[in-house]
Amino acid sequence: RRKVAILISGGGSNMLALARDMADPGHPAEVCLVLSNRPDAGGLARAAEMGIPTAVVDHRSYPDRASFEAAMMAPLRESGAELLCLAGFMRVLTPGFIEAWAGRMLNIHPSILPLFPGLHTHARCLAAGMAVHGCTVHEVTPDLDSGPILGQAVVPVEAGDTPDALAARVLPMEHRLYPPVLRRFVAGERAPLALLA
Ligand code: GAR
Repeated sequence: RRKVAILISGGGSNMLALARDMADPGHPAEVCLVLSNRPDAGGLARAAEMGIPTAVVDHRSYPDRASFEAAMMAPLRESGAELLCLAGFMRVLTPGFIEAWAGRMLNIHPSILPLFPGLHTHARCLAAGMAVHGCTVHEVTPDLDSGPILGQAVVPVEAGDTPDALAARVLPMEHRLYPPVLRRFVAGERAPLALLA
């Protein structure tokens, strides 16, 4: 089974969705590490409860992105990780780190890319007057949130939606999208998966 490390910064609900799917012994991959850049990330305890090894590399302990990333490489190498899944990992990665994992790193982003790369996607979707919103799993390339699209899920925008209400509608779709996209990716499938609410 291919070894997957999951990088988080927060609650880790996408990490859990991936880890629960990989708990299936018939899955072609297994989680070897959950790594957080924040020591207080809620996902660390949730991973540990599932018996998954965890590590913290606190970006605030390093003077620049390159040294932070070099510090992440040690636990990643020790874990035997072959693939990385970013799951609510909120640090921008340098081209050097991304090159080291070229073709082996996925990310989930809370918008229908190429719309709304970057932060505050739900508020920006509402401000744009969109009728639909969603999430995207894509391969990570040096340009932020713009690598090849591997899967997208769509939800409606409803009257009176706030950014939080929209986020709460998108997040369960993230959990439905990321696990099958990872399975397909490990199996060599690159055609994007579409999920409609
Ligand atoms: C998710 O909505 C994910 O798409 C988003 O952060 C949330 C993490 O939730 N990621 C980004 O904004 C990446 N720039 P989780 O920790 O519960 O998975």
